[in-house]
Amino acid sequence: MSKDVSMDTIVNLAKRRGFVFAGSEIYGGLANSWDYGPLGVELQNNIKKAWWKKFVTSRLDMVGIDAALIMNPKVWEASGHVATFSDPLVECKNCHERYRADQIDVTAACKKCGSKNTFTDPAAFNLMLKTFLGPKEDVAAQAYLRPETAQAMFADFSQVLASSRKRVPFGIAQIGRAFRNEITPGNFIFRVREFDIMEFEYFVHPSEWEKHFEYWLMEMHDWIEECGISTQKSHDLEVLKEDRAHYSSRTVDIEFDYPFGRRELYGLAYRGDFDLRNHSEHSGKDLSYTDPVTSEKYIPHVIEPTFGLGRTFLAVLLSAYDEEIGEDGEKRVVLRLKPHLAPVKAAILPLMKKEEIVNVAKPLAEMLAKEFPVEYDETQSIGKRYRRQDEIGTPYCVTVDYESLEDNAVTVRDRDSMKQERVAIAEVKDYLGEKISTNN
Ligand code: GAP
Repeated sequence: MSKDVSMDTIVNLAKRRGFVFAGSEIYGGLANSWDYGPLGVELQNNIKKAWWKKFVTSRLDMVGIDAALIMNPKVWEASGHVATFSDPLVECKNCHERYRADQIDVTAACKKCGSKNTFTDPAAFNLMLKTFLGPKEDVAAQAYLRPETAQAMFADFSQVLASSRKRVPFGIAQIGRAFRNEITPGNFIFRVREFDIMEFEYFVHPSEWEKHFEYWLMEMHDWIEECGISTQKSHDLEVLKEDRAHYSSRTVDIEFDYPFGRRELYGLAYRGDFDLRNHSEHSGKDLSYTDPVTSEKYIPHVIEPTFGLGRTFLAVLLSAYDEEIGEDGEKRVVLRLKPHLAPVKAAILPLMKKEEIVNVAKPLAEMLAKEFPVEYDETQSIGKRYRRQDEIGTPYCVTVDYESLEDNAVTVRDRDSMKQERVAIAEVKDYLGEKISTNN
């Protein structure tokens, strides 16, 4: 069972063990910018790999793309982002602190300076980050960093259809970075200005959208379990009309109980034909689909499951965190990460830093490193080394001792049960390989 954990504990662990650091720290940082460190990048890659496998390569009805981050600005006019991708911004007239009007009580006192009734009227603040292409910084050169990855799936729809020869229903998936000039970023990696989205657009016949919508909601729940995200802390929320994005006529958010409250983890939106129709109208290209069997011609409707990578990362860490009293009576912090997500799969630990033992342990670590990520650690007491591996979620510790020199075997310790098993050195690779490849 995971334990309720504070954000401070998770942020400290993430920093100390190299999951996530404050960005640009040597220059005093940059507010709300975060860098993923050596363990963070592995965990992130493992999440992406598992997602791509589940939703793309293991299916016959899904293909992927990797589109440019900067698209023709007309894309954002057609998608509605130029006109409506905004949050209501208010400013305290006294201290000039800015807030999202929908996140505060505008009749209350300013949280920063305490002044009452000093807020300006809400003004729409567009969240897209602008840049310029080429040497001239004028309107003609203005472009946007994409605020979502979805639009490339619509803009590339006919090319994907023609080249992949897929038939409706089918989906186009992408994992990539998106940028939003959030008014109130915060809560560690929960709300930031650049983040990765894993999402797909699933194209269906208009009469079948409800069936597909329900199916994808179930698959999203399945994914949550597969990641080890606490199902008790995940909740579906039917989003009310007034709170839905401009393109959606049904949305279910999957929320998660973070230490700072229940907030969005993922979203599932029914986008209808909004995007393909608008891109058809704005580009002048026919984006309709003709059914090869019935010859019916129509604009496919779209179901869109969307998954923030950073929020997945955070929910995985929060769900995996556990504390208990260890073998030695001391507090043991354990990240109970599923083995397929763990950044380090096994730690190879010579019991003592003695030449004979190191001469067995190091080549074993080098051999295993060719198969999956391992760490080799010969410093400090064995107890401390176990603690360190528990805290980063390493599922197995492999200890080489004097006996290993006699029986050509090592002790494999299981992170969760702490049970130890003697395994022949010649079999360690297969033994661990099998255990870490499961999603259970
Ligand atoms: N194409 C649909 C779309 O972009 P969204 O709900 O605006 O939907 C997708 O964003 C996902 O990205 C969200 O479900 C959330 O997990 C994540 N996300 C959104 N804004 C974020 C931010 N500022 N920082 C980190 N993750 C964010």
